[in-house]
Amino acid sequence: MDKHQILYNQKLAKEWIDWVESKNPKGSREKEIYSLIKTWIKTIKPKKVVDIGCGQGICSTFISKYITYVGVDQSETLIERARKLYKSPNRKFILGDAYNIPLENNSTDTAISIWVWSHLKDLKKSAKEIHRILKPGGHFLIITANPDTYEVRKTFYKSFKEYKNYLIGIFDLGEGKVLTNTTL
Ligand SMILES: C[S@@+](CC[C@H](N)C(=O)[O-])C[C@H]1O[C@@H](n2cnc3c(N)ncnc32)[C@H](O)[C@@H]1O
Repeated sequence: MDKHQILYNQKLAKEWIDWVESKNPKGSREKEIYSLIKTWIKTIKPKKVVDIGCGQGICSTFISKYITYVGVDQSETLIERARKLYKSPNRKFILGDAYNIPLENNSTDTAISIWVWSHLKDLKKSAKEIHRILKPGGHFLIITANPDTYEVRKTFYKSFKEYKNYLIGIFDLGEGKVLTNTTL
């Protein structure tokens, strides 16, 4: 099975929902990531934001109701959750693959992808897809793990196996929470 297909099966999707929806004010997402996204959006002033690998949709809440938001994710469980939690006339959540985004060429002025690229196997292919959907002069924001921290990442796992450049195993989120079968 291709590595990206084992990502975010239903069990893992539920673990992600449980973790991301629990308040963690000391965590890096609350402390750094969310404010970075908000500041970036304010600077760019987009008309439309496509969020690739949107997960359960939390990043849609950082986008004003005057901006069109389209969240794309390959997990049905996460897209269903996003539709339930963050329903709004300016937001749409659709099933889709970062390697084959179900959107027209030149159809957005802005794209974001947060904590997704460290899961992807073929970054050139996903970059081409972002390029394809972006209008000329469009903007993108990718927040992902630094490849240089590969060795450090191992310490985040309770147990893992290595396969080529992948780490696959039980990722320890702390406070008793884990993500099973996580591939970075
Ligand atoms: C760590 S979560 C981040 C979710 C969201 N971006 C956030 O920051 O809350 C990674 C997400 O990437 C999605 N994902 C992984 N590979 C994907 C692919 N090839 N196409 C679309 N989504 C993908 C997963 O389903 C999951 O929702």
